[in-house]
Amino acid sequence: MTLQTLQQTTSFLQEKGFLNPEIGIVLGTGLGQLVNHILIEQEINYSDIPNFPFSTVEFHSGKLIFGTLEGKKVIVMQGRFHLYEGYSLQEVTFPIRILKALGIQKLFISNAAGAINLNFKKGELMLIEDHINLQGSSPLAFATVSDFGERFTDMSEPYNLNLRNQAISIAEKNNIILHKGVYTAVVGPQLETKAEYRMLKIIGTDAVGMSTVPEVIVANHLQLPVLAISVLTDECNPNDLKPVNIAEIIALAGQAEPKMIALFKELIKE
Ligand code: HPA
Repeated sequence: MTLQTLQQTTSFLQEKGFLNPEIGIVLGTGLGQLVNHILIEQEINYSDIPNFPFSTVEFHSGKLIFGTLEGKKVIVMQGRFHLYEGYSLQEVTFPIRILKALGIQKLFISNAAGAINLNFKKGELMLIEDHINLQGSSPLAFATVSDFGERFTDMSEPYNLNLRNQAISIAEKNNIILHKGVYTAVVGPQLETKAEYRMLKIIGTDAVGMSTVPEVIVANHLQLPVLAISVLTDECNPNDLKPVNIAEIIALAGQAEPKMIALFKELIKE
């Protein structure tokens, strides 16, 4: 990535009409329905955007969408890039840099995650308050990173406190269960062993998944306020672990999704 490739992609999208967005939204696995609530003005496949990696996972449709939601201009990433697809962390987070260059002032992220905290049940939501990066590297680990922002990025409050408080009060008003906790990002794509689930609990994890943390690191690098919500799709009990069913995980994300959509829409309205 260079300043030139960033500029090239940004200009391309501006020419396509991706102008003056206020909010960026990243939709996770099984969580594509929010786009049905948007008055869509422009949409473009990732594969048609210069310098974009493109999504290879079949259940991510891989589109960038621009439109109006609750009266605000939004850009939605329908499908994201994962480390487990073979992309580098710089590639995974390139779209976040583009959204910021296009002008977004806030970033909302969703993901599907496994509940390590067994007080949390599948189908419920968790507000991410903090995270642990177990992906083995950083999207900021490259020579020219200081051309794009502070190399030694502060991570003392990676998830914006005002947005978190707003999300908590919206959830209360709408009778949505919204747990709070720590999200740990692993590489995947294999699910965890029982021993790994035990370790994740010991180190302070409430939910585990394979995304989000790189995007949040880059959002902090860009001083972009970020809010992230996990949709809990399975309960990771190492003492009663059943073989994983990925179709079930995706189906559960879809079932819980209306709550996440309600939350995001209210947040955008405010
Ligand atoms: N582990 C990792 N990623 C996940 C899980 C899990 O149990 N559930 C949904 N995404």
